Amino acid sequence: NYSVISSVLEKPNIGDDTEVKGWVRNLRVMKGVVFADVSDGSCAQRLQVVIPKDLKTDALTYGSSVHVSGILSKTPKGQVELVANKVKVLGECVVLDGYPFNPRTVHPPEYMRQFLHLRSRTNYISAILRVRNSVTRHIHDYFAAHNYIHINTPILTSNDCEGAGEVFKVQPDSSATVKAMMQEGKDTDSAYFGSKTFLSVSGQLHLEAVCRGMGNVYTLGPTFRAENSRSRLHLSEFYMLEAEAAFCDSLDQLQELIEGLLKHVLVQTRNSNEADLFIIDKANASPPVWIDKKFITLSYDEARNILEKKHLDVTEEGINKEQELALVEYCNGTPVFVVRWPKNLKSFYMKECADDNSKVEALDLLTPITGEVVGGSLREDDYEKLKQKLPSEALNWYLELRKFGNIPTGGFGLGLERLLQVVCSVNNIKDTLPFPRWPHNCDM
Ligand code: 4AD
Ligand code: MG
Repeated sequence: NYSVISSVLEKPNIGDDTEVKGWVRNLRVMKGVVFADVSDGSCAQRLQVVIPKDLKTDALTYGSSVHVSGILSKTPKGQVELVANKVKVLGECVVLDGYPFNPRTVHPPEYMRQFLHLRSRTNYISAILRVRNSVTRHIHDYFAAHNYIHINTPILTSNDCEGAGEVFKVQPDSSATVKAMMQEGKDTDSAYFGSKTFLSVSGQLHLEAVCRGMGNVYTLGPTFRAENSRSRLHLSEFYMLEAEAAFCDSLDQLQELIEGLLKHVLVQTRNSNEADLFIIDKANASPPVWIDKKFITLSYDEARNILEKKHLDVTEEGINKEQELALVEYCNGTPVFVVRWPKNLKSFYMKECADDNSKVEALDLLTPITGEVVGGSLREDDYEKLKQKLPSEALNWYLELRKFGNIPTGGFGLGLERLLQVVCSVNNIKDTLPFPRWPHNCDM
């Protein structure tokens, strides 16, 4: 029968018997009294607990977990505090045994990353994880308000949607399964019950199938990419929000939806998690410049010309990360849509531009900190054109979607972790989820 600290602080019943459970994040030992700042993870704020000296035991240290009972009071300055009459240490924390954190040091994120199993005890990571929780909720609210249905797309799949060859293969590891497959003469090396199977790089193709039966749909799920990148912007496993808009025949419609989404998430998060944002980066006290600016749109050719004037020539590989960030800077930090991309730089499913068959109706949204945060397009709805570009016969089911009651659709994918980088001002993507996976880092 104890209270959560966020509710104690939100609606303090001064004078009431109150119990809380949590961790000691700071301890100040004075003459007759000890002050302990207790956090239970429910909010950015800690509850100050006043402990008479005779209740202080050796076990009550920084980092220990405690159950405190007392009377809720107010300091002369109006701060809520709990005056303890009983303190039980639930779990000791002996710093000398190797506890990596202490309250006097500012631990850099790189340092905390060495202790993935312990770092949710830090202010920085716990604040980000609370924001992550809220951002997910705000995303669901936004799509509900826009009449989108949330569905789940498969994680095991036989398609490499993006065609970039950055898939993780799934293989059986059960000897019974392997034996049975060998008896059937099946290739056990690259196979999941006899056919090639991967961890999904995108749920888009499945989303498109359901969109052609149910209208607007979206999914928010784990996505896997075997990119050999240890950059501050790439993970092997990340969460992608993907939406598919029914009866959508212009990029403008998608851009409006995406811009509305980003602004909704930013504004709502600043309401729901103001204190967390401030813990993550003090500069978050003021909102980013773009909060009430219209996003900018540039065609790929315009973007390339701008970059060339800055002596950042774009090669046939396309716009690179440095160039993405230079474009955002050119736009004074306002997010910028780059639209109408060369066909050869983008995936097979994108719709050709009606007035230029070397281009496709694709968009990337670039923001400060991350550069690309969203990739999207209109989908090729011409059966014959799609058939010619289809990378494999295994995708005949996808082609068939265009045969029966087809409709124009468009959609996009947004990396949840990159969005968190933008919303919270977090430099490294590995700090936006509890257990990041990147090349050679999957042990914990
Ligand atoms: O641009 P991408 O590859 O687009 C797609 O996968 C489309 N099928 C989406 C769609 O239209 N339904 O990826 C979309 C976004 C990127 O803009 C980026 O934010 C994020 O996913 N992303 C990654 N995030 C973290 N680590 C990685 N390795 C990422 N790769 C892509
Ligand atoms: Mg992309």
